Amino acid sequence: MKKMRTAVERLTEFQSSDLEDLCQATEEAIIDGLGFEWLKPPGRRALETYWRGVLLVPERQLFVARLDGTIVGTGQLVLPTRSNQAGAFDFRLTTFFVTPWARGHGLARGLLREVEDAARRQGAKQISLEVRATQDAAIHLYETSGYVRWGIKPRFALIRRKYIEGYYYTKDLTAEAPEGGKTLPVAVATRGPG
Ligand SMILES: CC(C)(COP(=O)(O)OP(=O)(O)OC[C@H]1O[C@@H](n2cnc3c(N)ncnc32)[C@H](O)[C@@H]1OP(=O)(O)O)[C@@H](O)C(=O)NCCC(=O)NCCS
Repeated sequence: MKKMRTAVERLTEFQSSDLEDLCQATEEAIIDGLGFEWLKPPGRRALETYWRGVLLVPERQLFVARLDGTIVGTGQLVLPTRSNQAGAFDFRLTTFFVTPWARGHGLARGLLREVEDAARRQGAKQISLEVRATQDAAIHLYETSGYVRWGIKPRFALIRRKYIEGYYYTKDLTAEAPEGGKTLPVAVATRGPG
Protein backbone atom coordinates (compact mmCIF):
# COMPACT_ATOMS: atom_id res chain seq x y z
CA MET A 1 0.00 0.00 0.00
CA LYS A 2 1.23 3.52 -0.84
CA LYS A 3 2.57 5.40 2.19
CA MET A 4 0.79 8.69 2.83
CA ARG A 5 2.83 11.88 2.76
CA THR A 6 2.91 13.72 6.11
CA ALA A 7 4.09 17.25 6.85
CA VAL A 8 3.75 19.93 9.49
CA GLU A 9 4.29 23.63 8.91
CA ARG A 10 3.44 27.11 10.00
CA LEU A 11 0.70 28.65 7.88
CA THR A 12 0.72 32.41 7.30
CA GLU A 13 -1.78 32.51 4.43
CA PHE A 14 -4.41 30.18 3.02
CA GLN A 15 -3.74 28.76 -0.41
CA SER A 16 -5.90 26.66 -2.76
CA SER A 17 -8.25 24.57 -0.58
CA ASP A 18 -6.47 25.23 2.75
CA LEU A 19 -9.28 27.16 4.43
CA GLU A 20 -11.92 24.69 3.26
CA ASP A 21 -9.81 21.73 4.44
CA LEU A 22 -9.17 23.39 7.79
CA CYS A 23 -12.89 24.04 8.33
CA GLN A 24 -13.72 20.48 7.25
CA ALA A 25 -11.15 19.05 9.69
CA THR A 26 -12.45 21.28 12.48
CA GLU A 27 -16.06 20.21 11.88
CA GLU A 28 -15.12 16.52 11.87
CA ALA A 29 -13.09 16.90 15.05
CA ILE A 30 -15.88 18.83 16.81
CA ILE A 31 -18.41 16.11 15.94
CA ASP A 32 -15.94 13.53 17.30
CA GLY A 33 -15.75 15.42 20.62
CA LEU A 34 -12.87 17.74 19.93
CA GLY A 35 -11.87 18.68 23.44
CA PHE A 36 -11.84 22.43 23.36
CA GLU A 37 -14.45 25.15 23.28
CA TRP A 38 -16.85 24.08 20.51
CA LEU A 39 -19.38 21.39 21.39
CA LYS A 40 -21.12 21.40 18.00
CA PRO A 41 -20.02 22.84 14.65
CA PRO A 42 -20.83 26.57 14.60
CA GLY A 43 -21.42 26.59 10.82
CA ARG A 44 -19.02 26.97 7.92
CA ARG A 45 -19.13 30.75 7.80
CA ALA A 46 -18.34 31.10 11.51
CA LEU A 47 -15.44 28.66 11.18
CA GLU A 48 -14.03 30.50 8.19
CA THR A 49 -14.27 33.78 10.08
CA TYR A 50 -12.58 32.22 13.08
CA TRP A 51 -9.61 30.79 11.12
CA ARG A 52 -9.19 33.93 9.00
CA GLY A 53 -9.17 35.89 12.26
CA VAL A 54 -6.44 33.68 13.71
CA LEU A 55 -4.10 34.70 10.89
CA LEU A 56 -4.78 38.37 11.61
CA VAL A 57 -3.96 38.31 15.33
CA PRO A 58 -0.28 39.23 15.83
CA GLU A 59 0.05 37.05 18.95
CA ARG A 60 -1.34 33.92 17.25
CA GLN A 61 0.68 31.60 15.03
CA LEU A 62 -1.11 28.82 13.20
CA PHE A 63 0.58 25.47 12.61
CA VAL A 64 -1.02 22.77 10.49
CA ALA A 65 -0.53 19.08 9.82
CA ARG A 66 -1.01 17.74 6.29
CA LEU A 67 -1.72 14.29 4.97
CA ASP A 68 -1.04 14.03 1.24
CA GLY A 69 -1.20 17.83 1.12
CA THR A 70 -4.59 18.20 2.82
CA ILE A 71 -4.79 20.06 6.13
CA VAL A 72 -5.98 17.56 8.73
CA GLY A 73 -4.91 19.10 12.03
CA THR A 74 -3.79 22.27 13.77
CA GLY A 75 -2.12 23.79 16.78
CA GLN A 76 -1.97 27.47 17.63
CA LEU A 77 0.96 28.99 19.43
CA VAL A 78 -0.24 31.98 21.42
CA LEU A 79 2.44 34.47 22.35
CA PRO A 80 2.19 36.70 25.41
CA THR A 81 0.89 40.20 24.66
CA ARG A 82 3.54 42.92 24.41
CA SER A 83 2.37 44.46 27.68
CA ASN A 84 2.95 41.20 29.54
CA GLN A 85 6.61 41.72 30.33
CA ALA A 86 6.52 39.54 33.42
CA GLY A 87 4.98 36.62 31.50
CA ALA A 88 6.99 37.01 28.29
CA PHE A 89 8.65 33.61 28.82
CA ASP A 90 5.39 31.67 28.78
CA PHE A 91 3.69 30.76 25.46
CA ARG A 92 0.41 28.86 25.14
CA LEU A 93 -0.69 25.99 22.92
CA THR A 94 -4.35 25.85 21.94
CA THR A 95 -6.79 24.39 19.33
CA PHE A 96 -4.57 21.33 19.02
CA PHE A 97 -6.23 18.46 17.14
CA VAL A 98 -5.98 16.02 14.26
CA THR A 99 -9.19 15.06 12.47
CA PRO A 100 -10.26 11.49 13.35
CA TRP A 101 -9.52 9.79 10.00
CA ALA A 102 -5.97 11.17 9.93
CA ARG A 103 -4.91 10.06 13.41
CA GLY A 104 -2.19 7.51 14.12
CA HIS A 105 0.33 8.82 11.57
CA GLY A 106 2.46 10.66 14.10
CA LEU A 107 1.13 14.03 12.96
CA ALA A 108 0.26 15.31 16.43
CA ARG A 109 3.70 14.45 17.77
CA GLY A 110 5.27 16.20 14.78
CA LEU A 111 3.02 19.23 15.17
CA LEU A 112 3.86 19.51 18.86
CA ARG A 113 7.60 19.40 18.09
CA GLU A 114 7.24 22.06 15.42
CA VAL A 115 5.27 24.35 17.75
CA GLU A 116 7.82 23.88 20.54
CA ASP A 117 10.76 24.60 18.21
CA ALA A 118 9.06 27.76 16.98
CA ALA A 119 8.40 28.85 20.57
CA ARG A 120 12.04 28.25 21.53
CA ARG A 121 13.28 30.23 18.53
CA GLN A 122 11.13 33.16 19.67
CA GLY A 123 12.49 33.11 23.21
CA ALA A 124 9.89 31.04 25.06
CA LYS A 125 11.09 29.27 28.18
CA GLN A 126 7.81 27.48 28.85
CA ILE A 127 4.69 26.23 27.08
CA SER A 128 1.39 26.06 28.91
CA LEU A 129 -1.76 24.21 27.90
CA GLU A 130 -4.93 22.78 29.31
CA VAL A 131 -6.89 19.69 28.36
CA ARG A 132 -10.07 17.91 29.36
CA ALA A 133 -9.45 14.91 31.60
CA THR A 134 -11.30 12.73 29.07
CA GLN A 135 -8.81 13.34 26.22
CA ASP A 136 -6.69 10.20 26.71
CA ALA A 137 -4.66 10.44 23.49
CA ALA A 138 -3.74 14.07 24.08
CA ILE A 139 -2.83 13.40 27.72
CA HIS A 140 -0.62 10.48 26.67
CA LEU A 141 1.07 12.66 24.05
CA TYR A 142 1.70 15.55 26.44
CA GLU A 143 2.95 13.40 29.30
CA THR A 144 5.36 11.49 27.03
CA SER A 145 6.58 14.78 25.57
CA GLY A 146 7.78 16.33 28.82
CA TYR A 147 4.64 18.17 29.97
CA VAL A 148 4.07 18.21 33.72
CA ARG A 149 0.58 18.40 35.17
CA TRP A 150 0.49 21.10 37.86
CA GLY A 151 -3.22 21.62 38.41
CA ILE A 152 -6.72 20.28 38.09
CA LYS A 153 -9.86 22.36 37.61
CA PRO A 154 -12.86 20.29 38.71
CA ARG A 155 -15.35 22.27 36.61
CA PHE A 156 -13.48 22.76 33.34
CA ALA A 157 -16.16 21.97 30.77
CA LEU A 158 -19.90 21.36 30.91
CA ILE A 159 -20.89 18.62 28.50
CA ARG A 160 -24.36 17.14 28.38
CA ARG A 161 -25.05 18.71 31.79
CA LYS A 162 -22.03 16.98 33.34
CA TYR A 163 -18.92 18.78 34.53
CA ILE A 164 -15.62 17.46 33.17
CA GLU A 165 -12.31 18.05 34.95
CA GLY A 166 -9.52 19.92 33.22
CA TYR A 167 -5.78 19.31 33.57
CA TYR A 168 -3.22 22.10 33.41
CA TYR A 169 0.24 21.36 32.02
CA THR A 170 3.51 23.20 31.46
CA LYS A 171 6.68 22.14 29.69
CA ASP A 172 10.04 23.65 30.59
CA LEU A 173 11.60 24.40 27.22
CA THR A 174 15.01 25.03 28.75
CA ALA A 175 15.30 21.47 30.07
CA GLU A 176 17.13 18.76 28.12
CA ALA A 177 14.97 16.44 26.00
CA PRO A 178 13.95 13.45 28.15
CA GLU A 179 15.99 10.26 27.69
CA GLY A 180 14.44 8.06 25.02
CA GLY A 181 12.37 11.01 23.81
CA LYS A 182 10.53 10.46 20.56
CA THR A 183 12.03 11.70 17.32
CA LEU A 184 9.99 13.63 14.82
CA PRO A 185 8.22 11.01 12.69
CA VAL A 186 7.10 13.33 9.91
CA ALA A 187 8.68 15.29 7.10
CA VAL A 188 8.79 18.88 8.28
CA ALA A 189 8.41 21.76 5.87
CA THR A 190 8.12 25.25 7.30
CA ARG A 191 6.41 27.82 5.15
CA GLY A 192 6.53 31.50 6.01
CA PRO A 193 8.48 33.14 8.83
CA GLY A 194 9.33 30.77 11.67
C1 LIG B 1 -4.53 14.00 20.59
C2 LIG B 1 -4.50 13.89 19.07
C3 LIG B 1 -4.14 15.28 18.53
C4 LIG B 1 -3.46 12.86 18.63
O1 LIG B 1 -3.41 12.87 17.21
P1 LIG B 1 -2.60 11.75 16.35
O2 LIG B 1 -2.19 12.38 15.07
O3 LIG B 1 -3.36 10.49 16.28
O4 LIG B 1 -1.32 11.52 17.27
P2 LIG B 1 0.01 10.72 16.91
O5 LIG B 1 -0.24 9.79 15.76
O6 LIG B 1 1.10 11.71 16.78
O7 LIG B 1 0.18 9.83 18.21
C5 LIG B 1 0.47 10.46 19.45
C6 LIG B 1 0.42 9.44 20.57
O8 LIG B 1 -0.94 9.25 21.01
C7 LIG B 1 -1.14 7.84 21.29
N1 LIG B 1 -2.56 7.57 21.30
C8 LIG B 1 -3.40 7.56 20.25
N2 LIG B 1 -4.66 7.28 20.68
C9 LIG B 1 -4.59 7.11 22.02
C10 LIG B 1 -5.53 6.82 23.04
N3 LIG B 1 -6.84 6.69 22.76
N4 LIG B 1 -5.11 6.73 24.32
C11 LIG B 1 -3.80 6.90 24.63
N5 LIG B 1 -2.85 7.18 23.71
C12 LIG B 1 -3.25 7.28 22.42
C13 LIG B 1 -0.34 7.20 20.17
O9 LIG B 1 -0.07 5.84 20.46
C14 LIG B 1 0.93 8.05 20.20
O10 LIG B 1 1.77 7.67 21.27
P3 LIG B 1 3.13 6.87 21.04
O11 LIG B 1 3.94 7.70 20.08
O12 LIG B 1 3.70 6.81 22.43
O13 LIG B 1 2.73 5.53 20.47
C15 LIG B 1 -5.88 13.44 18.52
O14 LIG B 1 -6.23 12.23 19.13
C16 LIG B 1 -6.99 14.45 18.72
O15 LIG B 1 -7.15 15.36 17.91
N6 LIG B 1 -7.78 14.31 19.82
C17 LIG B 1 -8.91 15.19 20.05
C18 LIG B 1 -8.50 16.61 20.33
C19 LIG B 1 -7.70 16.77 21.60
O16 LIG B 1 -7.88 16.05 22.56
N7 LIG B 1 -6.85 17.80 21.61
C20 LIG B 1 -6.14 18.22 22.76
C21 LIG B 1 -6.83 19.36 23.37
S1 LIG B 1 -5.73 20.24 24.43
